[in-house]
Amino acid sequence: MVQYDREKWTFDCEPTLSDSQVLDFCRTGYLVLDGVVDAATNQKALDYLNGDRAANPSFMPEGWTEADFERVRGSHEPGTIMLEEWYIQNVLLNGAAAGALRSLLGKSVGMPVVVSKHSTACPAPAQEWHHDADCVFGPELYFVEAFYYPQDTPAELGPTEVAPGTHYQRTQRETHEEGVLTSASAGSIVFHHQSILHRRGASTATGTRHMLKYNYWRTAPPVRDWIVEDEFDFHTAHYGGHGQYQYCAHLFIGYAARGRRFGSWAGRRGRGGRRIRYGGRTGMV
Ligand SMILES: [Fe+2]
Repeated sequence: MVQYDREKWTFDCEPTLSDSQVLDFCRTGYLVLDGVVDAATNQKALDYLNGDRAANPSFMPEGWTEADFERVRGSHEPGTIMLEEWYIQNVLLNGAAAGALRSLLGKSVGMPVVVSKHSTACPAPAQEWHHDADCVFGPELYFVEAFYYPQDTPAELGPTEVAPGTHYQRTQRETHEEGVLTSASAGSIVFHHQSILHRRGASTATGTRHMLKYNYWRTAPPVRDWIVEDEFDFHTAHYGGHGQYQYCAHLFIGYAARGRRFGSWAGRRGRGGRRIRYGGRTGMV
């Protein structure tokens, strides 16, 4: 059950990801929730984006006029869709998405304030590989980016392509080099670490590919309060290869440090922590 606080624009719910799944997100930088939004909501979203559905905002931001509303609705950042109750309940607060976000971002998850419309006329060539201009590299996770696909988005419609494990440092990749296509069925929500190397994939089909992009925010310190696996072993967990494991381990163990300021756990041996070893280094949780 998702509890939604409209005034604070936050939600809370039970976490649904396990140790292994959180570590997998830390290592790869993305997570696909395939087809989690219902068909009726997907159709409403498509109709809204195509201008075939009248707006019915559940509330109006303070100070907005009708002209402001129409200008925003018609822009490439149509945040008015986040005022629609069906969109809030079934997409922004989607149960599967909320549980994953609660696992990655902690209690009282901050909800999106800006949405970008990425609608592409297909066929189209692939974009160049890039990190978004406002990305932040570091072993913390303060926000998670979401892509919502309201229609079936197979490889032919050019879903976003990601390069797993490239969210820790600036990385270059040639156009001909391939990554992982986040091909997804209608109603899929794909989460990314916002810094991951990515591009719009090449499309060969004819039509419009719709996708909405927005970020959720952390409001609480990182704590390992997702689903703890009894058998999970910090010693043998897979943190990635050379050039990756140290960042992944910092990110994951930063969570597991139970809210301590990251970095402060090092050298706390003897103060109740548990000594662990990762990637040739030793630390405490
Ligand atoms: Fe981008």
